Amino acid sequence: MTRWLLPPGIHRTESSVMTDNDDPPRTETMVRTVALSKDFAGFTAVDRVNLSVTAGHVHALVGPNGAGKTTLFNLLTGVHRPSRGRIEVAGRDVTGSTPERIAGLGVARSFQITKLFDTLTVAEHVELALAARTRIGYRFWASGRTFARFRDEAARLLESVGLVRRSADAAGSLPYGQRRALELACALALDPKVLLLDEPTAGMGVEDISRTVELIQQVRAGRTIVMVEHNMSVVADLADKVTVLQAGVILAEGPYQKIRQDPRVVTAYLGSAHA
Ligand SMILES: Nc1ncnc2c1ncn2[C@@H]1O[C@H](COP(=O)(O)OP(=O)(O)OP(=O)(O)O)[C@@H](O)[C@H]1O
Ligand SMILES: [Mg+2]
Repeated sequence: MTRWLLPPGIHRTESSVMTDNDDPPRTETMVRTVALSKDFAGFTAVDRVNLSVTAGHVHALVGPNGAGKTTLFNLLTGVHRPSRGRIEVAGRDVTGSTPERIAGLGVARSFQITKLFDTLTVAEHVELALAARTRIGYRFWASGRTFARFRDEAARLLESVGLVRRSADAAGSLPYGQRRALELACALALDPKVLLLDEPTAGMGVEDISRTVELIQQVRAGRTIVMVEHNMSVVADLADKVTVLQAGVILAEGPYQKIRQDPRVVTAYLGSAHA
């Protein structure tokens, strides 16, 4: 299961929201890790990973359960501190930075487990995420005023994920695929430069999967997307480049058509179903 980031502004201080005014150095590489490692109580979940995500790409991260994909996301977003190695976002060294600072550079993510506020309406979720993007919006929240000023934009986002008809319903009443779509709308409301998606189509039916693929195609313009995805047809449709992780180590890397034929990848991950 995947959960999208709830409006991270809820957890941020006002000053941390998109206030990084220095222009980042120009770079073709949006996210880079150098010999990045994370140890958990005696074992290494991410082991000397050199990842290079090209600006504007959809970059898929695949690999068997326990390969370290979510841990890598947790490192990239500052949830975990690296044990060793370096992380750069848009050419800035963010190794050891807080999640707030990294989010402030325009990085938004989804989580692997769904988490929404069951009693807030669908529209309120997106309005809250939009409010989190601006300091003014945050004050509205603090003062308990409504998000009327975000209503149109929220409706537009809900339209794009196919949820506009559910706007007034409590998030808790949505079926699974629609909860995921709402989480996507919340992440998009942040207008991130870098979007990290942890299994965006997990648990979805065929129709929801193709809607999500289409939506990712639409929103990728002007963004860099890193996506953990087990569904290989989604990877084939979307990914410019694929990195295969196994036991914390990069096993192979390249375009999908190349890695799908790599015997090491077939043995370690794709197995007989995809061979
Ligand atoms: N906070 C933690 N403390 C200890 N071990 C952890 C922690 N988080 C992850 N691990 C371990 O690190 C390894 C990598 O886990 P991770 O969740 O990154 O894998 P994954 O590739 O996302 O797998 P999946 O496809 O099942 O989501 C696993 O062995 C997991 O048990
Ligand atoms: Mg995971």
